[in-house]
Amino acid sequence: MTAADREAFVAALMARMTLSEKIGQLALFSAGEGPATGEAGGPPLAALIADGQVGSVFGTKSFDTVKRLQDVAMTSRLAIPLLFAEDVIHGHRTLMPLPLGLAASFDMALVEETAAAAAREASAEGIHQAYAPMLDICRDARWGRVAESPGEDPWLAARYAEAMVRGFQGDDLRDPERVSACLKHFLGYGAAVGGRDYDGAEIAIHTLFDVYAEPFRAGVAAGATAVMTGFNTLNGVPMHAHPLVNDWLRGEEGFEGVVVSDYTGLRELTAHGLGERPARAARALLAGIDLDMISGDYLDALPVMAEVGLDDPESGLSVGQEAVLAAIDAAVARILGLKHRLGLFDDPLRGATAERAAAAPLRSETRALGRRAAAAAAVLLENDGVLPLAAEGLKIALIGPLGDDRPNMLGTWAVSGDPHASVTIREGLAASGNEVRFAPGAPIVDDAAVIDRLNFVPETVTPDPRPPAVQLAEAEGLAAWANVIVAVVGEAKEHTGECASRAAPDIPGPQRRLLERLSQSGKPLVAVVLAGRPLVLGDLPETANALVYAFFGGTEMGNGIGDLLYGRAEPTARLPVSLPVHPGQVPLHHGAHEGGRPWPGEWRKFTTNYIDLPDDQHPARGRYPFGAGQAYTTFRFGPPELAATELTGPDAVAEVAVRVENTGGRVGTAVVQLYVSDPVARIARPAQEVKGVARLMLEPGAERIATFRLTRDDLSYTLPDDRGRPVRVWDPGEFVIRTGPDAANTQAITLRWKA
Ligand code: BGC
Repeated sequence: MTAADREAFVAALMARMTLSEKIGQLALFSAGEGPATGEAGGPPLAALIADGQVGSVFGTKSFDTVKRLQDVAMTSRLAIPLLFAEDVIHGHRTLMPLPLGLAASFDMALVEETAAAAAREASAEGIHQAYAPMLDICRDARWGRVAESPGEDPWLAARYAEAMVRGFQGDDLRDPERVSACLKHFLGYGAAVGGRDYDGAEIAIHTLFDVYAEPFRAGVAAGATAVMTGFNTLNGVPMHAHPLVNDWLRGEEGFEGVVVSDYTGLRELTAHGLGERPARAARALLAGIDLDMISGDYLDALPVMAEVGLDDPESGLSVGQEAVLAAIDAAVARILGLKHRLGLFDDPLRGATAERAAAAPLRSETRALGRRAAAAAAVLLENDGVLPLAAEGLKIALIGPLGDDRPNMLGTWAVSGDPHASVTIREGLAASGNEVRFAPGAPIVDDAAVIDRLNFVPETVTPDPRPPAVQLAEAEGLAAWANVIVAVVGEAKEHTGECASRAAPDIPGPQRRLLERLSQSGKPLVAVVLAGRPLVLGDLPETANALVYAFFGGTEMGNGIGDLLYGRAEPTARLPVSLPVHPGQVPLHHGAHEGGRPWPGEWRKFTTNYIDLPDDQHPARGRYPFGAGQAYTTFRFGPPELAATELTGPDAVAEVAVRVENTGGRVGTAVVQLYVSDPVARIARPAQEVKGVARLMLEPGAERIATFRLTRDDLSYTLPDDRGRPVRVWDPGEFVIRTGPDAANTQAITLRWKA
């Protein structure tokens, strides 16, 4: 079936549709089986569907619901099938590591596999679209949704976007085991002021297009069939009414898919000060938002507007009937086009059956993938040689409130995950010849109000009724018995995710006190940190003998961490975000321009610094940089070598090679990172930008060469033209190429590129 056939099919169907049926296709409601992330709304779903007043549904939790609602849709006058969507963020029934952890794997083939596995599980129960990948660049540890994102860097996020889209959609959307990918949240949501969820973002044009838009550009180029707009304002304009949707996303990037609003995103335009319901509907429709999630604004306001237009001087709107009708038609055509691409007109259930639905979840191969992914997502930050642990003969004191925890392993946005199906870290460690004893030692948090907030979605934090001193004493007793302590500490799963901003993104107080005691025990201390964000770690890096930053690993987390700590899996992950030394440093990222009075290497008056950070602490660098992470072996990184240090012309290509040797006694994967800087340009450019990563598996003693190719586009950046529109520019001259094992440990070479 060609695109022309599809267009003809859609046009013929639309010719038979009433205005009311067209508007119905623009309405998206929740089946009400998942969490409501805002005010609910709308009349009973089945009646609306039967009346052709709903085109799409999200939040189903079973094939039965999908079938029941789809059967109703098929009794509507034109029998147009519903599109079913769901928050399939990092796995569906079998949870994979958090997106931040998947990004930490730096392994895009693995990321793709996890998305494909999620697509298989979701499609088996009738879901057609995943509200993922979430692509909000985030440089602020306070924002809870960094957990759902690929982190701070646009290059890595762009590769993640491509991998997720490939994994979800495959080559052919008609494949019943694939789903439509929905890139979200367009645009700038991750730059919320103060790290406060739902707050606005003010982003300069070059940062907007070179950083925040980059993963969306990549996701669209990879063929994503949907995009969701963000709750934020961007430079004062709410994204549900933002001209960037039509001008940039569709106009410049050629996106032809469906744009979905976020939950009550249209309704919230009133709170943003953009007028009442008719004005909201008009603004969103004309901005190019096709699907109205939950608000019901299109259903309510468009019928009248399509007759008489809208004249609303107070909100500065005057729209004629023709423009409204044309915008409705365009949106309906896009939605029906997607349904057609998914094959819904041939088979509204796309092959889903009760049997397929029952057989898909938590299949052993998906769990095996989850186990591999959980190990691949955990970053080894410190190791004095205590890791890997011997697989037998040890007495292990497993201590910490997350050490034998099931529900929290899944991480945030696990709306279809079964908290009882996950493997605890205790179970993962116990599957060995070691004796493993467990004591929580402290609660995750001890503030009753915070516990209540964390338990908003099914209970994940259960306070230990015993007094803190008793819990501590028990842990210390266990430490005295053991030959090694494994302390599992960090956040609860609902410390992160939506509406989970933290003013102080650190290891909560009771656990810090526990760690301090354990570090005084004289026993080797392996700390495993579970987190959905970059946390301030205090002195843990200095007091622990080994430190593993494991994010939340999903259903198989316990097994994955067991594999890693016992050396059955090699540590290959690297940080996709910088870890701050202090919450007051955020936002933080590896590419920050250092200003006109850069930090001179120590505290000095009238240079950039913090008066209350240590003398030797770079004010704009964290405790661990982007890209940091160790293996169980060691590597020697050679300097970057250029095939030619002088290049001429637009089509030249810079070829960079880096020699890496495994200098240790175990096999390991070096993650070679390439950064570029443009020291002389028209604006102050980022200190450095990632332009390539190569993962090299090396046997002990082996040497391999990582090669990279840089085109002129890799050295270009965005400026506004004389009408304020973004254009890519390039300045000839000097560029510095840096390569190394992380953003702060690089060697440099200079490249000269003439126009
Ligand atoms: C979130 C989206 C999500 C939607 C539907 C919203 O609150 O911002 O990311 O896809 O809810 O559950």
